[in-house]
Amino acid sequence: MSKTVVISGHPNLEESFTNTVIIDTLQSQLENVSVRRLDTLYPDYNIDVEAEQAALIDADVIVLQFPFYWYSVPALMKKWIDDVMSFNFAYGPEGDKLKGKDFFLSFTVGGPEESYDPLGYNHFTIEQFVFPLQQTAYLAGMNYHKPVYTHRMVYIPNVYNELEDVQARAKDHSVRLIKEIHKVTESDESRLRKFVSLWFAQFDVLPESDAFFLESLSEDVVMTMPEGEFKGHAGFKDWYAVARSTFKPNCIHDVEQFELKSSDKGYQLELRILLKADTYEDSMMKGESIELNVNETWQVSIDEHGSVTIYDYKVVPMN
Ligand SMILES: Cc1cc2nc3c(=O)[nH]c(=O)nc-3n(C[C@H](O)[C@H](O)[C@H](O)COP(=O)(O)O)c2cc1C
Repeated sequence: MSKTVVISGHPNLEESFTNTVIIDTLQSQLENVSVRRLDTLYPDYNIDVEAEQAALIDADVIVLQFPFYWYSVPALMKKWIDDVMSFNFAYGPEGDKLKGKDFFLSFTVGGPEESYDPLGYNHFTIEQFVFPLQQTAYLAGMNYHKPVYTHRMVYIPNVYNELEDVQARAKDHSVRLIKEIHKVTESDESRLRKFVSLWFAQFDVLPESDAFFLESLSEDVVMTMPEGEFKGHAGFKDWYAVARSTFKPNCIHDVEQFELKSSDKGYQLELRILLKADTYEDSMMKGESIELNVNETWQVSIDEHGSVTIYDYKVVPMN
């Protein structure tokens, strides 16, 4: 079952009217969730980076939960991002620790919906204000999902809103967020994304045994590769032997695009992969280091247990 970690960036949840309701509801209604309250963990803003990174590594779904402050995250949450999303953790040559995780922004907004419009007093849409956070997720290789946010969440007694109204909106917000989390953790798309990421992680290593690959290839798979056409498991074995004698292990396959379409067998996956690899001197690539963009089209099915079978596999180099 998927694990969710909620990072609460409210600087003082004791004085919150809405984030506190959202956090309580997530804790009582979302299975397998843990909440990290930055206000109580780090009242001095001194973030324990190791503990935070371990919590992220342990989770499949990461939620940043915060009140919208000056069109962005509160300072405590920004400090958390600056410290935790570090070199060789979230980005850089070994910075793949968050790759493939599902990422949500979940936040409460004071201003009304119509103010976040070119003609409103806030001029820009909420989606425009959160672009830096969206790009942060992209750089770390996470799956960025549509943010979940709710307007009119300021409560000032006798000035702005009624407590029961903002708290009802906070409850509704929690339900919407839980639904979105269920969608990504239980959908075919999320299973296929995870499968693709595991598939290429295996190709990075090029293990001696081809068992992992064969398990997901149909007996009569057709592989159309730059080197020619390969049929069935025997065809894959021939192609894999050539790949292992050409590419050195520890290559990198970055999945830069992932598109899913329905097809008669189940789904058609359209992928754009960036391959970086060193090759052996005595191979046809003659020890060259390569950096290659390839488009891949797969025909796949997925059963009720989430097992994926590939029927057709086409690879077309772009450069
Ligand atoms: C320092 C500060 C900055 C704020 N900035 C914004 C803002 O830029 N836009 C907005 O719509 N609301 C803004 N608000 C309102 C908060 O978003 C709102 O009070 C909060 O979402 C309510 O959450 P809570 O009940 O959990 O404290 C701001 C509030 C504070 C205290």
